[in-house]
Amino acid sequence: MKIIPLLLAGVCCLSAHAQKFDGLDLTPQMGWNSWNKFQCDVSEELVRETADAMATNGMKDAGYQYINLDDCWQGQRDAQGFIQPDPARFPSGLKALADYVHAKGLKFGIYSDAGAQTCGGKPASRGHEYQDAQTYAQWGVDYLKYDWCGCEDLSAKGAYTTMRDALHAAGRPVVFSLCEWGNNTPWLWAGSVGNSWRTTTDITPCFDCVLNHPTWHQWGVLQILDAQKPLRPYAGPGHWNDPDMLEVGNGMSVNEDRAHFSMWCMLAAPLISGNDLRHMSPQTLEILANKEVIAVNQDKLGVEGFVYSTNDNVEVWFKPLSGDRWAMCVLNRNPAAKKISFDWKKEKVADGFSKRDTQFDTTTYALRNLWSKTDAGDTGKTLAAEVPGHDVLLLRLDKQ
Ligand code: GLA
Repeated sequence: MKIIPLLLAGVCCLSAHAQKFDGLDLTPQMGWNSWNKFQCDVSEELVRETADAMATNGMKDAGYQYINLDDCWQGQRDAQGFIQPDPARFPSGLKALADYVHAKGLKFGIYSDAGAQTCGGKPASRGHEYQDAQTYAQWGVDYLKYDWCGCEDLSAKGAYTTMRDALHAAGRPVVFSLCEWGNNTPWLWAGSVGNSWRTTTDITPCFDCVLNHPTWHQWGVLQILDAQKPLRPYAGPGHWNDPDMLEVGNGMSVNEDRAHFSMWCMLAAPLISGNDLRHMSPQTLEILANKEVIAVNQDKLGVEGFVYSTNDNVEVWFKPLSGDRWAMCVLNRNPAAKKISFDWKKEKVADGFSKRDTQFDTTTYALRNLWSKTDAGDTGKTLAAEVPGHDVLLLRLDKQ
């Protein structure tokens, strides 16, 4: 009889101390994930070659660090229930693969699902959460994307909290990336559960479209962007809205890729590249590794941008940056080019959320064009520009 209170005390204290790993992503996560380009066609060669590419092509130097294996790495569970990688695709095992990625100075991530099977029909973590978390820790996993297929009868907060606690109990710091597509308003409860949460259905490499499937749909860049607009107050250092992984280099035009990347930077979104890093065009690499644009995403304030004005389907976004600076992004949603003009003296940007405002009437800001990497005058003179269709003008404003 004496045992019961002791056991209860144990349960109480374990859960009271369980928490997510803090401090791992004070700025949005940056990395690569296999899904957007390769879906289930993953292998240890792909992961090794991608790590080689990231370590040497300028991306690591620009801040990318996670190499994340998405769905379909799984084989079967062994007799004791421990998950094994697919032996044909990962003959060396995931511990060896994580070691390889770590030796490149990068971090290794994987994927599972809160249900019995992943979206790709592989064994998932339901009922094996603590066992899987322990296995990941033994392998050296640094990042877990946790999906939501087959979970209709589960509480999202409950299921994700169970995995958070399992990861914490396993002891190895892991970025925990929630992926329930925004179905259960994770922005309202996931700040203490995970490091980021998906806010929408899956992205598709299309600037402005909806791709319908029999039971679900995918969204283009603009559709996803519009769904982020009300979610700004919920994100910040260590707890980010995730509008899904990047499609840069996966088939949109260079203008559209540039606009997509710029907007994900304005949103302080995780920057998880989703293309083939081993074979990409110089233009794709130039977009992904533009340090001045990435600095907008990685700014330590961690405040998302917002739409300041809309005219003729052209949106002017502002994002407060540290050090009395701002980023401004003029997004032309039209397929055709548009001429814009912005008379600074007549504008006042006031952001109640970050408690920041501009004083264009009394203060001059120097302008830096972040894509052309050139100085672009200052706010003393009306801005006049032509923005190509499905493209952006991205400026940084530095208070003089
Ligand atoms: C879901 C996720 C995707 C990807 C696939 C894998 O659709 O939203 O990002 O992980 O599952 O099957």
